[in-house]
Amino acid sequence: MTIKPFNIAIIGAGRVGTLIAKFLSEIIGHRITAVISRSTESLQRFLKRVKAETTSISILDIPSDVEVIFITTPDSAIRGVAENLCKLENLNFKNLVVYHTSGVLTSDVLSCLHWLGAEIGSLHPVYSISHFDYSIDEIKKIKFTLEGSRKIYDITKWIFYNFDFNIFPIEKSQKILYHIACVFASNYMISLLHAIDEILKKANLSIDNKFLSPLIEISLKNADELGVVNALTGPIERGDIETVRLHLDELKNKFPEILPLYSSLAIETIRVAFKKKSISVNLASKMLDLVSSYIGRK
Ligand SMILES: NC(=O)c1ccc[n+]([C@@H]2O[C@H](COP(=O)([O-])OP(=O)(O)OC[C@H]3O[C@@H](n4cnc5c(N)ncnc54)[C@H](OP(=O)(O)O)[C@@H]3O)[C@@H](O)[C@H]2O)c1
Repeated sequence: MTIKPFNIAIIGAGRVGTLIAKFLSEIIGHRITAVISRSTESLQRFLKRVKAETTSISILDIPSDVEVIFITTPDSAIRGVAENLCKLENLNFKNLVVYHTSGVLTSDVLSCLHWLGAEIGSLHPVYSISHFDYSIDEIKKIKFTLEGSRKIYDITKWIFYNFDFNIFPIEKSQKILYHIACVFASNYMISLLHAIDEILKKANLSIDNKFLSPLIEISLKNADELGVVNALTGPIERGDIETVRLHLDELKNKFPEILPLYSSLAIETIRVAFKKKSISVNLASKMLDLVSSYIGRK
């Protein structure tokens, strides 16, 4: 099957803009006809990695033959960019598809474009994109969620050619909770690794979280293979309340900054252990009382 190459414009030459452009041009074979950004620095960085016919810091330079636009600016700039696009008289809105890539915002921020005839969508890469040089093999594995106007899912399947199996539909009303889950899966996981490093340092150990990698990896593997609840082990799951007390005392004395984090996770872990039926309601309640007493909830 041969694909029709689309004329694509990227607005926002940052990490996601560069990755999407690489995906669409190198993997699928579309043309990046324009890249628009806020500064020449980000444009130059983009051009070192992806070819584009027009580059500009003005949205007015978007060519009239553009068929697909990706707004990959920070969330706070998306609505403004969309409103500026709506003022462009040279665009053929009825032949235009516009996406943004925010995980939390819906396609509603692009509404003015839909009123003019464009198809709109929020297409969120479910990935932590922290640099500009992902390999094609890595990019191919990225999953996306998609929400938008009525025809957007079919159109996106067409634009993404045979990568449609990696695109999952999502409803507008699901986006905020979905994004909270993503933040836990990525950002808070990093914060957890940071806390682990700091605790090891506080213990004067010359190891960091990499030493604990096998433990982290087996926990994820067990969650995959046994299910999240059944994967739980440790003092709370065993009902070792005195071990939890030792932890809380040590943190209170030596590392009080970490006490709220430990306590919040302990409360969630008590919930999981109870769900697993490894602790009784009575023990769960005793443990909750203990943890709460260290964070002033009792
Ligand atoms: N990074 C991730 O892991 C990730 C994952 C999924 C989704 N997202 C979403 O993807 C979007 C982009 O995130 P990012 O991490 O790629 O951000 P980023 O690296 O900070 O890139 C944003 C780019 O937008 C440009 N820009 C800012 N305001 C602009 C405007 N008004 N007009 C044109 N260009 C403008 C910036 O240009 P200058 O550099 O020249 O200032 C910058 O290059 C966000 O909606 C974010 O929520 C991010």
